[in-house]
Amino acid sequence: MSLDQYYLLGRSGLRVSRLSLGAMTFGTDGMFGSWGSSEETARAIFDRYLAAGGNFIDTADFYTQGTSEKMLGKFIAEAGVRDRVVVTSKFSNNVEAGNPNAGGNGRKNMMRAVDASLRRLRTDYIDLYLLHTWDRITPAEEVMRTFDDLVRAGKIRYAGLSDVPGWYAARAQTYAEAHALTPLISLQLQYSLVERSIEHEFVPLAQTLGMGITAWSPLGGGLLSGKYRPGEEGGTGDGRLTRSPTGKSAGKFTEQNWRVVAALEKVAKAIGRSMAQVALNWTATQPGVGSVIIGATRPSQLEDNLAALDFELPAELRQQLNEASAQPPPFPYGMFTDAYQAWILNTGSSVGDKPPGYAPAVWSKKA
Ligand SMILES: NC(=O)c1ccc[n+]([C@@H]2O[C@H](COP(=O)([O-])OP(=O)(O)OC[C@H]3O[C@@H](n4cnc5c(N)ncnc54)[C@H](OP(=O)(O)O)[C@@H]3O)[C@@H](O)[C@H]2O)c1
Repeated sequence: MSLDQYYLLGRSGLRVSRLSLGAMTFGTDGMFGSWGSSEETARAIFDRYLAAGGNFIDTADFYTQGTSEKMLGKFIAEAGVRDRVVVTSKFSNNVEAGNPNAGGNGRKNMMRAVDASLRRLRTDYIDLYLLHTWDRITPAEEVMRTFDDLVRAGKIRYAGLSDVPGWYAARAQTYAEAHALTPLISLQLQYSLVERSIEHEFVPLAQTLGMGITAWSPLGGGLLSGKYRPGEEGGTGDGRLTRSPTGKSAGKFTEQNWRVVAALEKVAKAIGRSMAQVALNWTATQPGVGSVIIGATRPSQLEDNLAALDFELPAELRQQLNEASAQPPPFPYGMFTDAYQAWILNTGSSVGDKPPGYAPAVWSKKA
């Protein structure tokens, strides 16, 4: 399970490490700058990830106001590893106040954003280019046509989406298939023991339509490392969640989440692993997940996280984590149970009357 075993991302020929390196915390500029690290620390983190065999790195145009991309471009150029690494970047967020076309997902901004990212990254191609967030305006057709043009122009190799509604991703992929455009190979979504909403819609969507999920905030912003404890104003501890510019804890200090933290601590103790390693291992081995994007603001955190795939989570302990973190399914997903299906099909069995082999094969992550 080490980082130099590479897996296919979605229905593509692109091979990536199962732990991806998040560069959102490279640099100290901009809105989330207080979460970030200096160039020296970021370089140490980058070098260590590469030395461990990692090849998959995630950034975005607006992370630390462009500093993340600039640092990454510099590190990659100086290490001479451009062709070895798989660079992901993203567009959507406005980077020029007062100019509505310097943000959002329209064709004009996509074209502008990719060129700006290429300059900062000091490269002539981005391996995986993602729409960062749905803008509620741009038709999926416009985005997919533009992705296809960018692939043909040689500016990007693959395309994907992050933080969009399920219906939008399904429409975009179906349109690309129908018109033989470059397909989406990845969905980047928040997924962890404290955020499991994607299991209802996005995991089956990704498996069915050939997109590998990359999971962001797999530690819930650090909560699942165990360094925060319930206390005053919901919780205490030293880190991003008690220094959040968007409000203390970013909504993570809840009774339910403290129950998850307690269960995780028990499991980690039982197998002699850190809580962060167990939390990352759980996410990385969930259905549909192609890679987990690890964040680290210190080399010691990265070291801890890099060992997250060195062990197998025993089934009974995984079950304990599943139960502690389970949330009631939103409508209509509560209806898609074995019992309900048996009643609908009226077959007396929970699997219906389909012969073996009838269901389409589920996409396999293994290379
Ligand atoms: N597509 C999107 O919308 C989106 C959104 C967010 C992130 N992302 C991507 O996902 C990546 C990871 O997201 P994230 O940073 O939120 O991930 P995360 O794993 O949930 O949180 C990472 C933070 O947790 C703390 N931490 C990490 N390892 C630790 C350890 N072993 N022990 C103690 N504390 C530890 C550090 O924060 P402290 O500084 O507090 O110690 C670190 O910066 C980002 O870099 C970015 O590339 C994408």
